[in-house]
Amino acid sequence: MEIGPLYKRKVLLGVSGSIAAYKSAHLVRELIKWGAEVQVVMTTAAKDFITPLTLSTLSTRPVYSTFLKEEEEQYGVWNNHVDLGLWADLMLIAPTSSNTLSKLVTGACDDLLSAVYMSAKCPVYVAPAMDLDMYKNAATASNIEVLESRGVVVLPAEHGELASGLIGQGRMAEPEAICEFITSHLLKQLPLYGKNVLINAGPTHEHIDPVRYIGNNSTGQMGVALAQASKALGATVTLVLGPTHHPLDLKGLQVIRVVSAKEMLTAMQEYYPSSVLTICTAAVSDFTPVDAEDKKLKKTSMTGTMSLQLEQTPDILAALGAAKKPNQKLVGFALETNNGEDYAKEKLVRKNADAIILNMLSSKTGFESNTNAVDIFFQDGGELSFELMDKSLLGKQLLEALIEKFQ
Ligand code: C5P
Repeated sequence: MEIGPLYKRKVLLGVSGSIAAYKSAHLVRELIKWGAEVQVVMTTAAKDFITPLTLSTLSTRPVYSTFLKEEEEQYGVWNNHVDLGLWADLMLIAPTSSNTLSKLVTGACDDLLSAVYMSAKCPVYVAPAMDLDMYKNAATASNIEVLESRGVVVLPAEHGELASGLIGQGRMAEPEAICEFITSHLLKQLPLYGKNVLINAGPTHEHIDPVRYIGNNSTGQMGVALAQASKALGATVTLVLGPTHHPLDLKGLQVIRVVSAKEMLTAMQEYYPSSVLTICTAAVSDFTPVDAEDKKLKKTSMTGTMSLQLEQTPDILAALGAAKKPNQKLVGFALETNNGEDYAKEKLVRKNADAIILNMLSSKTGFESNTNAVDIFFQDGGELSFELMDKSLLGKQLLEALIEKFQ
């Protein structure tokens, strides 16, 4: 299944009376292939070209066509056009006949499909299909112009052989092309479309010898949740990930695997200049052995105690903060056990970050937990709080809040 902006979207597919309605069966399948949930509403004329049974079987939902439920007509049970219109995340009318096109313009509501269109609040796409002279007619051109001026997206009819035997423009776009058009149109609307987001996550391991290291239990979940949320909002995401074995959903992310703080810094510095938003969630080790042994340390070579000389690792967030350009936003995390707000505000200044997300350590927050509760402190003094919730939901909410603040 394709994961794109149609994934899990509720699509209301309107089918009107044109020979191109034979392609609707294929269109239902194609939408489902992209992960959409499809509800078909068809006009009476469309039933002359394709049966409701075909479309209901493929969409696995009953097809609606009339205001009254046909099988319960005597009881006066109706198909609620308002509910259908509000249910949809997106409405696609394909094919759109010349008649239906003109009704969308005038607001005439003599069938369920046009009433649903009038009630829908979601984005609407129409794919006209008609003979070339009807398509060329000034009325069609002006109807398309009016609909576009109202925000309806019109997929241009294709050039080719028409049912009349004539050759010209008027064919409904092919189902694959319709889905690709909608997918790319939806992607372009997303707030992070065409933008690079850089995130680091997980722990770092600072090797003492080939088998031992200084590290911590960070799983990388919070960073991955933010990365997936950025991806869902259209970004191209690079995730610089330390050594974690936690199962993570890395689909659609460019993942750079690193081990030490030094390697993490190098990778971050490579992708940082092209990123508009950088989020440092990694639990970077603060210390590393001055000299890592290249052979395993032996017990026999020791006298019972040993000392390990450590030096500080590079502060990645601070290094990026020092190199920050005006068009870049930089966000860090602060995991604290006490005086959280003071430390977070101090880090905001010292590391030149635009925001610090404070995470107080408890059994339900922090490293190994699936949930988290945080506060954001912004450079302009703004603050936001997020209650305890699942890390993937928190990732979405945090990212939306950051985008709103930084836009
Ligand atoms: O100074 P402290 O480690 O508490 O700061 C936490 C923030 O700084 C986090 O965003 C973490 O990813 C980042 N950090 C870093 N490099 C370090 C230590 C922390 O980028 N060496």
